[in-house]
Amino acid sequence: MSDGLEGVVAARTVLSEVDGQAGRLIIRGRSLDELAGRTRFEDLIALLFEGFYDLPADLAGALGWARSEVFAEVAALDTGLLDRTPVEAVRALMARLPDGDDTATALRLLAAPSVFTAAVVRAQAGEAPVEPDPGLSHAADTLRMLRGAAPSKAEADALDAYLVTVSDHGLNASTFAARVVASTRAGLTSAVLAGISALKGPLHGGAPGPVIEMLDAIGEPSNARAWIEAALGRGERLMGFGHRIYRVRDPRADALKRAVKWLDARQGRLEFAEAVEAAALAILREKKPDRPLDTNVEFYTALLLEGLGFPPAAFTCVFAMGRTAGWLAHAREQLAGGRLIRPQSVYVGPAPMRAA
Ligand code: ACO
Repeated sequence: MSDGLEGVVAARTVLSEVDGQAGRLIIRGRSLDELAGRTRFEDLIALLFEGFYDLPADLAGALGWARSEVFAEVAALDTGLLDRTPVEAVRALMARLPDGDDTATALRLLAAPSVFTAAVVRAQAGEAPVEPDPGLSHAADTLRMLRGAAPSKAEADALDAYLVTVSDHGLNASTFAARVVASTRAGLTSAVLAGISALKGPLHGGAPGPVIEMLDAIGEPSNARAWIEAALGRGERLMGFGHRIYRVRDPRADALKRAVKWLDARQGRLEFAEAVEAAALAILREKKPDRPLDTNVEFYTALLLEGLGFPPAAFTCVFAMGRTAGWLAHAREQLAGGRLIRPQSVYVGPAPMRAA
């Protein structure tokens, strides 16, 4: 038995490879460096979906119309849902979408996290939702729906780079959850809901909100060492550090750090975050010499999404916007060649009192 299934191979995939020793991510034969900041999210979807879905020639337009279609569900946002965290509210709206396994279902699922996140964030701030503009790119329209005003090109490019960077990442916990559900033939909506549910935990895609809390609590670089030592002394984990597979720096961290630099007025915050990161890495190396712990994707995710105007409570929803592409590709790959996923457990409970 392997604790946490570490080292267990549970799928063959053509979608992505995570090389934890070299710190390299490959998505369908392209390295992350070739993709992040160079490829639109729509083109990345086409790359991931090739051979798995029959895509329309105008994918950007079809995704735009899917945003308009799912916008109807925003009417279901009531006060009960608005009391929930954004990821819970977005998940509840997504659960209203019909299950299915066709391309139209996949497009609605790709569109939904963006439309619903913008609407939930605005409603929680007492603002009316903004209707999608199908003519814009997915990244630009997401920011426009969030703020009610068009973003700059640099901002739309930065969100594009983020969505591409997090689109797929081997057999991470949420992708595995999505593949398990897909293997039962429950449908794509069910598989994506499983993915979101696994993603929201703080050990996975729920980490970047707490990164902002950590930066705000530290306040200035001179406090970093004392704050971090005290947190580790209480047995806490530092959010944005450590990874199951990477034993070196997560390559996504630097892809996102580059995107933060495209945003005006973020340089002071970036320098502060770099100082906290350096202190954290030095202390982790002192305190955990046997376990190589380095920066993961969530540290610079936090800086980038904060700079784009998303509230920290909604960061996991933005992660889901990108990762839905990976979940949907994996769901189809699982259905194409995979059997029902059904591992075994070892019973360690008591024996029956009476022999059968
Ligand atoms: N801060 C402090 N100590 C850590 C951290 C951390 N961020 N990460 C791991 N460790 C320590 C553990 O306490 C443990 O030490 P011990 O053996 O002395 O008890 C050791 O490293 C191994 O930890 P595991 O939990 O076995 O490592 P695993 O590979 O299962 O964990 C994980 C990976 C969950 C990401 C972990 O590093 C963590 O909790 N990080 C903080 C949360 C985070 O940033 N999550 C986002 C990950 S990226 C993503 O999912 C998109």
